[in-house]
Amino acid sequence: MSNSAAPQYYVGLMSGTSMDGVDAVLVDFASGIPKLIASHDKPITPSLLEKLHRLADPQCNDINLLGQCDRACGELFAFATIELLHHAGIEASQIIAIGSHGQTVRHMPDAQYPFSMQIGDASTIAVMTNIDTVADFRRKDIALGGQGAPLVPAFHQQLFQSKVENRVILNIGGIANITLLDKDPDKTLGFDTGPGNTLLDYWHKKHHQQPYDDGGQWAATGAVNEALLQHMLDEPYFAKAAPKSTGRELFNARWLTQQLQQFNHLAPQDVQATLAQLTAQSIAQSILPLAQVNKLYVCGGGVFNDDLLTRLKQLMPLTDVGSTDDLGLAPQWVEGIAFSWLAYCFINKLTSNLPRVTGANKAAILGAFYPAN
Ligand SMILES: Nc1ncnc2c1ncn2[C@@H]1O[C@H](COP(=O)(O)OP(=O)(O)OP(=O)(O)O)[C@@H](O)[C@H]1O
Ligand SMILES: [Mg+2]
Repeated sequence: MSNSAAPQYYVGLMSGTSMDGVDAVLVDFASGIPKLIASHDKPITPSLLEKLHRLADPQCNDINLLGQCDRACGELFAFATIELLHHAGIEASQIIAIGSHGQTVRHMPDAQYPFSMQIGDASTIAVMTNIDTVADFRRKDIALGGQGAPLVPAFHQQLFQSKVENRVILNIGGIANITLLDKDPDKTLGFDTGPGNTLLDYWHKKHHQQPYDDGGQWAATGAVNEALLQHMLDEPYFAKAAPKSTGRELFNARWLTQQLQQFNHLAPQDVQATLAQLTAQSIAQSILPLAQVNKLYVCGGGVFNDDLLTRLKQLMPLTDVGSTDDLGLAPQWVEGIAFSWLAYCFINKLTSNLPRVTGANKAAILGAFYPAN
């Protein structure tokens, strides 16, 4: 990495499985360590959100809708970037590249022809912002036999690896994923543990018409139903060996309705409490068998769910639990910064997947290039 003092600006764009908005970050790589300069959260309009929810339903195979949403998301990501740079007082010409994750509408790593589809046309982003754009980060890893996910462990390793303690970075987005950073970098592991916020958000919205349970306050009023919890934990995904990744194709409203068939008598807040316990327990049981973990650093929107973190701490009494703030990175922007780093890696011809994590048969330069001109 360069030590030059001149800024090396990249933009990272992330819209995750929660579909709670587009995270746009401006990051300077001049010192070799990504430095967050500015951030912007761009909401998704209700009409686009409704279409994205329809597309993300595994039973929807509407190509016209897909094409329309691809362009609409491309525009949304471009506007997120334009607003970010406007707030930061930085010109497009100062940005080396944008790294755009895209909006996942289908993740099928175990299909006959495995694939993962992120939309948000990168040509639209490049043209509207006048900035070279790197996108499609998952496809090469899948072409190499990997899951195409999770991709962030390579970034976590680069930034958060310690020589003195074993760390776990836990991202609680729509889906939750962990990265085990053993003191020995050859032992890094990572995989999706299962649902993060997605089922909690769905159930909360159904009963309160609000997108999420602020602080987990509603869940905290309920009682965990052990029979329902065990029933949900019987889902085969939880026992599957890594490499593994998942999404809304599995953990969605249909899955939950099926799980609740024998439990329709439960009060809604008890279901919410049980879903929070499911997220916490599936995370804890993924981490506990790993090497002795000195500290767990949480990032992603789930870090603001106090009830969820309390449950996690109760399940892992011997582990110190903090957030990535303790490592100097604000937890809600870690994923966005990771995608600026993936663009940085592409431009500098650096590999950015971890074959041990994704199952790919080699490390590779990830992404595809969409020039502005
Ligand atoms: N104050 C809060 N209280 C409870 N939950 C919150 C709060 N703020 C955010 N969240 C949760 O965090 C979610 C958004 O998290 P995040 O943006 O990390 O997920 P994501 O977009 O799915 O990301 P990714 O899939 O990349 O990990 C919201 O949908 C909500 O469930
Ligand atoms: Mg988000």
